[in-house]
Order: sequence, then C-alpha cells, then structure tokens
Amino acid sequence: MKAAIREAAALLEAGEIVAVPTETVYGLAADAFNADAVAKVFAAKERPAFDPLIVHISSFKELADVAEVPEDIAPVVKSLAGAFWPGPLTIVLPKTAKVPDLVTSGLPTVAVRQSGNVIFRNIGKALGRPIAAPSANRFGRISPTSASAVDKELGGRIPLIIDGGACRDGLESTIVTIEDRGEQRPLIRVLRAGPITKEELQKFGKVIIEKKIAERPDVPGQLESHYAPRTPLLMFEKPEDFVPEPGKKYGLLSYRGDPKAGYIDRHDWETVEELSPGSGKLIEAAVRLFFVMRLMDEAGLDAIVAEPVSETGLGVAIMDRLRRAATKD
Ligand code: TXA
Ligand code: MG
Repeated sequence: MKAAIREAAALLEAGEIVAVPTETVYGLAADAFNADAVAKVFAAKERPAFDPLIVHISSFKELADVAEVPEDIAPVVKSLAGAFWPGPLTIVLPKTAKVPDLVTSGLPTVAVRQSGNVIFRNIGKALGRPIAAPSANRFGRISPTSASAVDKELGGRIPLIIDGGACRDGLESTIVTIEDRGEQRPLIRVLRAGPITKEELQKFGKVIIEKKIAERPDVPGQLESHYAPRTPLLMFEKPEDFVPEPGKKYGLLSYRGDPKAGYIDRHDWETVEELSPGSGKLIEAAVRLFFVMRLMDEAGLDAIVAEPVSETGLGVAIMDRLRRAATKD
C-alpha cells in the first residue's frame, strides 16, 4: 500500500485526480489548492459548478490553512474536532483566501473534515496539502462504497483508483454549521444527516436537523434528487400500500426482511434484499445501503420498492438518502 500511497500523492502533486477510500464513501481527490486539478474533478463527475466540494485535512493543524475559525465558535469547533475527528463529521467554516473559489462554488465558506481512513490521511500527509474530494460517483448517482463501484462510475475517466476495501460507515459524512447566538449553548445545524447522529451532537450544543435544505440558496448542493439508481425507486411510508402493476418485475429493499410485515410474502417479488440481515441494526443497514441499491439497480427490475426504517439515530441519514433516491411524481 505504501507504493500506492506514493503514486497517489505524486499524481495529486502533478495536478491529477485520484479515487481514494474514506471511511464514509470513496472520494475523488484533487489538490485543494490547485484550481485546475479541482476543475478535473467537476469534469469527471459531470458535476455542476454550483455544488461545492469538501476539503479534507490530514491534521488539526492544517485547519488554519483552509478555514478561519471565528472566535465565538472556536471552543465548540475544538470540542467537535476532538470528539469526532478523524471521522465522518464535516464542519462548514469561513474559508481562507488560499482555497480556490471553484472548490466552494464561490461561497465564502468551506466544508472541512479530517477523514478517519488511514490510507486517505497518509496520501494527504504525503501531498502536504489539503485534499478536495467529493464522492467518487457521477453527479446525482449512488455514492460508491467499494473500489469496484468507483470503477463502474468513473472507470476510464481517471488515472488511478486506490482500493482500500469496503467503506466502514457506508454513508457520507454529517455536515454541520455552528452558530453562537449568545445563548447558553451553541446552535449546531445539520445540513446533511450522516454517520454522526443528532444524539451524539447534542452533547455539544442545541441541534437542529435542516429539513428543507433544497430551498435554501445559502446551501447549494443539497439537491432534493440525489443518490439515485437508474431503476425507479418507490418509497412508501406504508409499504402495504404498494400495488404492483401486472407483468412488472419488482424488488423489495427491506430493512430486515421481517415476514411479519405481511407485504413481504404477499407480493411476487423478483428479489428481496435485506439491509440488515444480521441483527436488524441500523449500523449494518447504513453500511450496506448504497451497496444494496447498486446491486438492485443491476438486477433488471422495473422498480425497487423501499421499506422505510425508523427515524432515530442513523435511521435519520438512511431515510434522508432513501427519500432523495426515490422517484418523484
Ligand atoms: O463523506 C463525505 O462527506 C464524502 C467523502 C468523500 O468525504 N464526500 C462527499 O462529498 O460526500 P460530496 O461532494 O458528495 O458532498 C459534499 C456536499 C455538497 O453537495 C454540498 O452540499 C456540501 O457538501 N457543501 C460543501 N461545501 C459547502 C459549503 N461551503 N456550505 C454548505 N454546504 C457545503
Ligand atoms: Mg456526493
């Protein structure tokens, strides 16, 4: 792996882009301070320029290169970093002049995190600069949680994919902004639900999960339709309401394939895939979500019918991704 890390860093140094593993999903990396390299990321993903990238630092010290932490929120930024970095928490902060406007889509702020993946951090250390990296999928599609999924999305468009195995978390990082409103506790707004849950963040402030993010012009990129398979995905708050059309092939994306949920046996499903076949745990479901979506997308179905999961803890992020993947009428 050492040689692969050196090769990745050398390509990044030369202004190239490389797909790299993180603990959440695979990222498509570029030197964050090289605008030409960052432009290649947008081109390979066919990503619109209004959707800003996350900047990854390999040590807390590097934060000062990319962000200016306002004094009033510095203590909570430090506590959150202490608790969750390296890890799947992204904090939006005012950017420094060093960060090209292309990275932030012209916003005065930058989204920053320190990845928990050792391979990723070692590439960053070898490069000696922060790394801008969105998820390594084509725009609007399912985020890749394995090197083979990256290859299916971007193979032929990028010079190198580093295979670090399956991603530990399987869902993109939790994104937050922080405000000090002169109240007792700072306000933590969750712009994108993810592996770090509301319950975990509550130790550090008052937490609000932003619901109607798509309508907020100051938060570009949180597009309502995202993470979508090519096969239509149908979401029913009550799956028993689903009425199949005759002659069509349907697959059920089930949380735990519980036959007690009457509809599982009732329909003639082409396939039933369980998110958490083991113990019915949300962690397992989160890790497997994009993998299973991809699998079902390749199964030649007319539609995927998704069963809801309970919206507590990690279930909030899972439901967020399912709703955005769902076909809108
Ligand atoms: O886990 C992750 O966060 C993965 C890995 C690779 O780190 N990255 C990822 O990046 O999910 P991406 O580009 O797929 O999603 C990043 C999102 C953007 O769509 C945008 O909504 C938000 O981060 N974002 C970036 N900069 C922002 C900013 N300055 N203010 C608000 N939101 C921002
Ligand atoms: Mg993405």
